[in-house]
Amino acid sequence: MIKRLLAGVVGAGVLGGLGFLYYAWYPPIATIDPPAASSFSAEQIERGRIVAAEGYCAECHTRTDMGGGPELAGDYKMETPFGAIYSSNITPDPEMGIGRWSEEALRRAMRLGVSRKGVHLIPAFPYDHFTKMTDQDISDLYAYLMTRPAVHMARRPNELPFPLSLRIGQAAWKLLFFTPGIYKPDPSHDALWNRGAYLAEGNAHCGACHTPRNFMGAEKKGSMYDGAVVDGWIAPPLNDKNPTPTTWTEDELYQYLRFGVAPLHGPAGGPMSPVPHRFLSQVPEYDVHAIAHYYADVDHAAEREKHDKAALARAMEQSKIDLIGPNVDPDAKLYQGACAACHYNAAPSPVLGRPDLALNNALWLDEPTNLFQVMLRGLTAEEGQSGIAMPSFYNALSDADMARIAAYLRRTRTTLPPWTDLEKKAAEVRETVKTIPVNSSH
Ligand code: HEC
Ligand code: HEC
Ligand code: HEC
Repeated sequence: MIKRLLAGVVGAGVLGGLGFLYYAWYPPIATIDPPAASSFSAEQIERGRIVAAEGYCAECHTRTDMGGGPELAGDYKMETPFGAIYSSNITPDPEMGIGRWSEEALRRAMRLGVSRKGVHLIPAFPYDHFTKMTDQDISDLYAYLMTRPAVHMARRPNELPFPLSLRIGQAAWKLLFFTPGIYKPDPSHDALWNRGAYLAEGNAHCGACHTPRNFMGAEKKGSMYDGAVVDGWIAPPLNDKNPTPTTWTEDELYQYLRFGVAPLHGPAGGPMSPVPHRFLSQVPEYDVHAIAHYYADVDHAAEREKHDKAALARAMEQSKIDLIGPNVDPDAKLYQGACAACHYNAAPSPVLGRPDLALNNALWLDEPTNLFQVMLRGLTAEEGQSGIAMPSFYNALSDADMARIAAYLRRTRTTLPPWTDLEKKAAEVRETVKTIPVNSSH
């Protein structure tokens, strides 16, 4: 009896294994002769440029360490909790790039995360979002990529430990966490909303940074847009868990995504900075409006913005505190000397080039990470609002000084509980800043 049961279990195991291998196996797609540039129309190439910009292909497919590399030639180093991963060359070079890929091969890579040869790709390539792209967008993207300059350059091998280095593991990951399929419009919403959702959930993959991931690196389904840590920064929540006192309205979102600065919330710093500056400033206005329209719904702006007037007035009052009377608080004094000259604001609302810290996410998040990042790195004139910079305090302030300023701002500018272990956290962020090459823009 037991024997038969065991045989049954083993049999099911073998069948399951075979089923899995069948699921995991993809044939190679035949190579083609690289298509002539003249086989694509100028209109299609231009549409493809917009698709590539909305998916930030150049951000992850251009090397930034070792002095940088040619655009789209790959070898961009991505640090993951599992080890470093290097991106592929997606220029039309026939050997090193995708010059011998047919459009069908690109479509399969974007939709299913499978390379031309049939190899499972690592989800650091956000195909879990790209899967939502339409055939038309992928076709236009193909025209754009195939007409870029070919670059004969190899990427470094990934540094993933065994067994993660086994590509079959990626197939198991897909079975657990990946839902392939083109975006399905939601008929209960208008065209602008659907365009925004299509871009945000798909090509522009905002959730790749703003949604927390589980221990296997997959975005948590029940926590969409709850905020997450990315490259040593906090990507804040984009839903109604966003803690900043004034609402991310459609207009605030539009300004931020298009120009890299929102009148009330301030600048896009760190890993967010290229999203507006390098990409969303280069695409049709309508698309940026659509994304803003979509997130104003995700964060329930309509219900929340009625409190904004009071929140703004409160923030302006708080900003004034430092300037009244003889300051006995030594932390206030430190803040006054280092920061207040540039961050002072008065009613009715903050000056665009002078973010009001009482309204900025840096003070309202659960951790002081972004505040310390900005204090240590400063902001270049290319980040945030164009042409406006904030100096780095890396050498001017000790970890203890930064801790005092952070504690002071948190207790005078927010209604939230104090942060803990501030000096230790300041030291931790300082460690990460040290490893950044001097000429890196972010
Ligand atoms: C967040 C980073 C990131 C972004 C954004 C990104 N990629 Fe990638 N991509 C990668 C990584 C990493 C790999 C390598 C995956 C692997 O080795 O399994 C990759 C692999 C690929 C491949 C497979 C190439 C091959 O030789 O197997 C293609 C095609 C590709 N990306 C196209 C694109 C396009 C087109 C865009 C823009 C719409 C894009 N990627 C945006 C990170 C990214
Ligand atoms: C590469 C990672 C990354 C991607 C992709 C990304 N973000 Fe961000 N985002 C961040 C980080 C990090 C911050 C914090 C920046 C700061 O504090 O200056 C941020 C900040 C923001 C903020 C400001 C939130 C606040 O409370 O201050 C908004 C709004 C936002 N992102 C929207 C988006 C949207 C919409 C997309 C997609 C179109 C997107 N982001 C794509 C990383 C990313
Ligand atoms: C010389 C002027 C100046 C000083 C001094 C200064 N800042 Fe700034 N700060 C700015 C400007 C300008 C910006 C907006 C930059 C942009 O839009 O690119 C900014 C932005 C910020 C932001 C928003 C970052 C984001 O990504 O949302 C924070 C937080 C901040 N500063 C904190 C501080 C603190 C804390 C101090 C004191 C230690 C300080 N600043 C001192 C000029 C200054």
